[in-house]
Amino acid sequence: MSEINRHEKFNFKSLSQIQEKASELGIALSSVDDCSVLAEPVNIAERRISKNAFAVLPMEGCDWTAEGSLTELAHRRYERFFLGGSGLIWWEACAVVPEGRANPRQMMLTKVNHQLISRLLENLRRRAIRETGQAPLCILQLTHSGRYSRPEGKRSLPLTAQRDPFLDPVGGIKDDSRIVSDDYLKKLVEIYAETAKRAQETGFDGIDVKACHRYLINELLAARTRAGDFGGPFENRSRFILEVVEAIKAVVRPDFIVSSRFNAYDRHPFPYGFGVSPENVLEADLEEPILLAKLLVKKGVELLCVTAGNPYSDFPEITRPMDLPLVGKPKPSEHPLEGVARLFGVTKAIKHEVSSVKVVGSGYSWLRQFIPNFAAANIEAGNVDFVGLGRSSFAYPDAPRDFLTDGKFNEKKCCVSCSRCSQMMRDDTFAGCAIKDRSVYQSIYQTARTAAEKVNK
Ligand SMILES: Cc1cc2nc3c(=O)[nH]c(=O)nc-3n(C[C@H](O)[C@H](O)[C@H](O)COP(=O)(O)O)c2cc1C
Repeated sequence: MSEINRHEKFNFKSLSQIQEKASELGIALSSVDDCSVLAEPVNIAERRISKNAFAVLPMEGCDWTAEGSLTELAHRRYERFFLGGSGLIWWEACAVVPEGRANPRQMMLTKVNHQLISRLLENLRRRAIRETGQAPLCILQLTHSGRYSRPEGKRSLPLTAQRDPFLDPVGGIKDDSRIVSDDYLKKLVEIYAETAKRAQETGFDGIDVKACHRYLINELLAARTRAGDFGGPFENRSRFILEVVEAIKAVVRPDFIVSSRFNAYDRHPFPYGFGVSPENVLEADLEEPILLAKLLVKKGVELLCVTAGNPYSDFPEITRPMDLPLVGKPKPSEHPLEGVARLFGVTKAIKHEVSSVKVVGSGYSWLRQFIPNFAAANIEAGNVDFVGLGRSSFAYPDAPRDFLTDGKFNEKKCCVSCSRCSQMMRDDTFAGCAIKDRSVYQSIYQTARTAAEKVNK
């Protein structure tokens, strides 16, 4: 079976057709017809209430200024998210240090720009209350891009947790000089705490200590070959994220939400991957991810978001099941429903081990107008608390609002998982939906494609 390419594009007209395909593939995916649970409020730590179970997932727009500050495009993206009806907005990756930016247009929250972002939050909350009857909770994702740092643009300036024979050649790494020192990490703990405090002062409801997609903290969790305080045994590999959480908790108000988005499965060979079976890279081994989730909760983390994979790898479908790959890349060999089922499965396994905290799920966008049916089934079964929407939020930010008024998503407005938004990131331009938000993003997509093709000629 593994030799056969099972991939196919979304071509389903009904839930029962999807269910037929799932049983043909030998995977279990529950769905329900009554999706009303999605409209019910979700309590985070009994203090912060999301008005419904929809969450915008963090989606980098790569459209901030060179200093990491607000632009018209970034303003427009968040305006669409705020007015879209989701109860929770998980803001995109915001770099805590300039050298940890994934591109020179990545968001930063600085002493200079925080007042501007504060005003944005205030204005958009006011408008959201006026137009949708609620203000979404806002979590800011704090990141260090680690081996994917490109603060100057084209030139890769990686800062890694360990050597990696699979990834080092891709990043042009030939020696140990790009490995960050223990002293660097110790200083970084304080910087995370300072930025979290600034996020609180800015008006965010909480922050996320991002630990996914092979950025610095995800790689540290897998740094079995690293020497020193932050490498080797799990106790050392998890030290950095736990110290960051502890340092943040010490400086923020008790009602400020501390959360983490982490990879439950890297699909990267052992010993370099986190959450992978030592024997078979295709299998998740959730022992350490579950232990991590429990330790985070013990340190006071009140909200988790589960994801998987490395979007820069040869297997971006692990993170985002898709119809079409990036330009020039092969189509995935697995069926997108298998990817969806994997994301649902690892999320369920984590949620059942830490049922006291709320968990946001990922990987729903490929399901299009049937998202509510699968999301409601997962919530009713206690497998997740929020349905997180990534690419769907670029294409169709008001899907939650439509659901809350009409009881369903509009099929014509749904994301078609064509990978153009990711392509725009790879082509070094602003990311958005070139299909469903074409008046703004089609020409941006086309211009960047033409330029990239010229360079590749
Ligand atoms: C253009 C683009 C930007 C993204 N930016 C982020 C980000 O800043 N932080 C993050 O954790 N994930 C990021 N992701 C991953 C998404 O949050 C999400 O996990 C993924 O798209 C799968 O969810 P979906 O099926 O709803 O799209 C990004 C994905 C895309 C396509």
